[in-house]
Amino acid sequence: MKKTNYLILLSITMIIGFLSCSNEPTSKNTKAMDKKWWKEAVVYQIYPRSFKDSDGDGVGDLKGIISKLDYIKSLGIDVVWLNPIFASPNDDNGYDISNYQDIMKEFGTMQDFDAMLKGMHERGIKLVLDLVVNHSSDEHEWFKQSRSSRTNPYRNYYHWWPEEKGKPARRFSYFDVNNDAWKYDSLTKSYYLHYFSVKQPDLNWENKAVRDEVFKMMRFWFDKGIDGFRMDVIPFISKDATFPELPAKYNGNYVAYYANGPHNHEYLQEMNREVLSKYDVMSVAEGAGASLNTAMNFVDPDRKELNMLYHFDGALLGTLPNEYKTLDPKGYRLIDFKTVYSRWDSLFAQKGWGTIYLGNHDLPRMVTRWGNDSSEFRELSSKMLTTFLLTMRATPYYYFGDELGMTNIKFDKIDDYRDIETINMYKNTIAQKGDPKKFIENQKLTARDNSRTPFQWDNSANGGFTTGTPWLKVNPNYLTVNAAAQENDPNSVLNYFRKLINLRKKEFTLIYGKYTLLDKNNPDIYAYTREFEGKKMLILLNFRAKNASASIGNIDMNKANLIVDNYSAEGVESLNLRPYEAKIYELK
Ligand code: GLC
Repeated sequence: MKKTNYLILLSITMIIGFLSCSNEPTSKNTKAMDKKWWKEAVVYQIYPRSFKDSDGDGVGDLKGIISKLDYIKSLGIDVVWLNPIFASPNDDNGYDISNYQDIMKEFGTMQDFDAMLKGMHERGIKLVLDLVVNHSSDEHEWFKQSRSSRTNPYRNYYHWWPEEKGKPARRFSYFDVNNDAWKYDSLTKSYYLHYFSVKQPDLNWENKAVRDEVFKMMRFWFDKGIDGFRMDVIPFISKDATFPELPAKYNGNYVAYYANGPHNHEYLQEMNREVLSKYDVMSVAEGAGASLNTAMNFVDPDRKELNMLYHFDGALLGTLPNEYKTLDPKGYRLIDFKTVYSRWDSLFAQKGWGTIYLGNHDLPRMVTRWGNDSSEFRELSSKMLTTFLLTMRATPYYYFGDELGMTNIKFDKIDDYRDIETINMYKNTIAQKGDPKKFIENQKLTARDNSRTPFQWDNSANGGFTTGTPWLKVNPNYLTVNAAAQENDPNSVLNYFRKLINLRKKEFTLIYGKYTLLDKNNPDIYAYTREFEGKKMLILLNFRAKNASASIGNIDMNKANLIVDNYSAEGVESLNLRPYEAKIYELK
């Protein structure tokens, strides 16, 4: 190319670049913040069993997801995270995998998977799968071999404890009826380890052959074109295989002990070197047991391990210490909520990157847990919580159905539950002579099945989820709370979610901008600013079912321009917020 032509082309490119920079985030603006697609993404989590059933067997499937790709696209999200879709006997709904390179029969075939991935990529949506490698199913071929004899080559793929050494030191199991993580197997007169159900034996990561198998399997999926993994209880993988008594400093705190295994970080660095670094993909740890002190070790870019981690400090607010998943009747304090999210923000202010979520398949529905699911405030508080999720400095993980304001189903009877966690905890309560009524009351608020009920598409039978009998009951409020009803209502929760995503996409300030907490001691209102390259935004969120006012220091509200309000009708003085009101201002 001639030099003059080259210069003309260069100036045109610069003019286009300049004109588009007000709307389009570009990498040159990020400075200290290293720009990555996964930092700018909104992740939408789909529980495939409950999204859309295409063949009338009552279970959601991949063809069902394919039929709804245009809906997913219409949300404006960038990434879909799917809970496990691999072959599984479903003791724990797919978190017990019997073949990592095959699709669960109820969900479809590998051809369906390929078509789904293609359909997502054609629409510019990335796909993240669930990597469940702390444990497999006991029906995995590795475990069948491992269990068969003490000398089988697969024996060391799992953790075995021979009976002649006596009973192993106690380990806590989440889903065992007696919370005992050691299961005696008479065939080889040994115990095997299972942090989760008896059908989820823990893989032995100290064995290099296991790590190589996992890495090979990850490459298989990346070579197919997936865009990342969410890593199930990944901090638990490495274990002190001498299985000592619980060290005193972890007294009563199994989760912290499990998350601090001796070789975790070596293994994650090996995974990064051998797999993750070879692809442009994202990785996010389920950070069970990780704390403000340990989280950076997983996500410090210099360490070359994982990109992000989601902590449990928020999810645990308002629960009773030492009582697994029991809500404090006093509820949670907004001041504590603000402290948790502010501390996690500051951890990643210089390096690393955070996540933000208020619901997922292990938690109750966002609006029931953190907002107000009464008919009066369900919509307003859903929108307010959505505003929080989409205006923080962290990648939002948004759980399917929350965009409709779906609520807990609150089953009265144990027979309605399908989740192994609830069912075994119930058996445990009975065995311990506990109070089953009290247990069920607590489950109405905390049980995982609350957020696993089928997606509410419309007001036809079963909310349009299936023509058969749904595997888990549909929430009866589908008659009014459903996607079809919200689609054409400009003030619906659904359209508010779309609007906020759109805003976040246009505003680098909401992605990379510095976060500053205001009015720290206000027990009702969460107020903060976000600032980036001279632009400043103010976010005010009323977490209460009553009017409340914010005090925001010397910010001049005469120069504040309101750009979002979850109330459609205007007219109240700006710092006095109506119940569950959410406002976003641009500050001049
Ligand atoms: C994680 C998953 C949960 C599962 C457990 C065991 O916490 O999110 O659903 O039951 O691990 O795999």
